[in-house]
Amino acid sequence: NARRFFIGGNWKANGTPASVKQLIADLNSAKLEVDANKDVEVVCSPPFVYLAEVKQSLRSDFGVAAQNMWDKAPGAWTGETPTQMLTDMGIEWVVLGHSERRENCGETDQVVADKTKFAIEGGLSTMTCIGEKLEERESGETFNLLDRQLKPIAAALSEEDWDKVVLAYEPVWAIGTGKVATPDQAEEVHAYLRKWLADNVSKKVSDSVRILYGGSVNDKNSEELGRKPNIDGFLVGGASLKGDAFATIINSAK
Ligand code: G3H
Repeated sequence: NARRFFIGGNWKANGTPASVKQLIADLNSAKLEVDANKDVEVVCSPPFVYLAEVKQSLRSDFGVAAQNMWDKAPGAWTGETPTQMLTDMGIEWVVLGHSERRENCGETDQVVADKTKFAIEGGLSTMTCIGEKLEERESGETFNLLDRQLKPIAAALSEEDWDKVVLAYEPVWAIGTGKVATPDQAEEVHAYLRKWLADNVSKKVSDSVRILYGGSVNDKNSEELGRKPNIDGFLVGGASLKGDAFATIINSAK
């Protein structure tokens, strides 16, 4: 399997100066049973205000991601963070299309696709998130919804662009709820997404793109989820704020 396991830690809007220092220290001293330069790719995504500190102080075998970015050149955009400011400070990744931004900040499927393209052109790799809400799942609309979210992304990206994309499947009903998708539920969707990529992009992209599962992943359930053939890692929220739990999740890449 050429797809290197991937663990993203999305800190969301959490942290104080003291807790961020502590989390960096805990991650830096974590004993991993896997090699983060080789067996697994680990990327932490702190809030903007802590990006510089995390970039400077976090162990160098972990990457750093922003949680959003502005898809315009630097200039008169009060309150925004253009892509170039991220790459200028050595940030490699950005999380895009998280359901919390789709829901609370009005990011449409097209906005998410455009930002993904802009980020890649600007030199970032993206963790682009998709996933259905509970009512969509219950009404049997999950796959239609995923088609709708994926189409503009596939239209915006060239085949090479996909080398810079990790897809994160995050069922909204599982985010922060403690209600994790079962390994079979997640695998069913991941297999669907991989087939969608084969049918609509290319076999090569379908074989190589890493598809993460996100939604109440923790140190107790990650190992079983990670054994599924189409689950290539996780985007972790709450459990990424605890150094020991996050280290255990990283070790599930074994
Ligand atoms: O980006 C991460 C996801 O939203 C998952 O969050 O692990 O707290 O459920 P959670």
